[in-house]
Amino acid sequence: MIWNETMKKGKQLYEGKAKVLFATSNPKQVIQYFKDDATAFNGEKKGTISDKGVVNNMVSSKLMNILGAVGIPTHFIQQLSEREQLVHKVEIIPLEVVVRNRVAGSLAKRLGRPEGEKLDRPLLEYYYKSDALGDPLITEDHALLFNWATMDDLDWIAEHTLRINDVLLGYFASLNISLIDYKLEFGRPVKEPDTLVLADEISPDTCRLWDMTTGQKLDKDRFRQDLGGVEEAYHEVARRMGLE
Ligand code: TMP
Repeated sequence: MIWNETMKKGKQLYEGKAKVLFATSNPKQVIQYFKDDATAFNGEKKGTISDKGVVNNMVSSKLMNILGAVGIPTHFIQQLSEREQLVHKVEIIPLEVVVRNRVAGSLAKRLGRPEGEKLDRPLLEYYYKSDALGDPLITEDHALLFNWATMDDLDWIAEHTLRINDVLLGYFASLNISLIDYKLEFGRPVKEPDTLVLADEISPDTCRLWDMTTGQKLDKDRFRQDLGGVEEAYHEVARRMGLE
């Protein structure tokens, strides 16, 4: 059901680093509220990026709609306001699924590869979602052994992630943006716990986005690396997506 005047925003259920979840009068749907708070390096670096919540809400809503339209099941229902969206309530699989089309970030550091090196095919990595442990890199076998996901879940996630990658690579290329890497999260909807959906957000917080011509970074690395022009970069992504 989409939002109507009989539905109400309820109590706060959860506060994360960049978003807050609120209950609604429908126990199977929640409101995802996007904050301006920004963290990096597992919360060691803290700050705010003015209007980040507004931009990420718009950007993520549009990307979820694009993916939904090509048959990727997502948690997204509708954008409600500048900073709020209505989503299906899910039980999050405790995995951060990272897709890389080029070398950057922790991969460059871990394996001593040059930033920007092209990969012959997308690289899929799994991290265990635990702030206390700093989201360590794991293998599929860890996820299976510790019951974070089943083999069927991992097969579904890998298959859908590669389809998501094809769609997002093409979409961002049409905006003259190179999608270097990004992080996805998946969950089991409480209304259908035997299925999986794409959840969380896809935004300049969770992607590396480089201008295809100049290589300019248009994402959270500007905040992580103190490059300046953080707000402008987020707005530039929204502008190219036709959102402002
Ligand atoms: P990494 O190079 O630091 O491992 O990051 C890979 C991608 O995942 C990058 O696009 C940023 C995104 N990411 C998140 O969205 N959340 C996180 O906590 C981390 C570490 C990375």
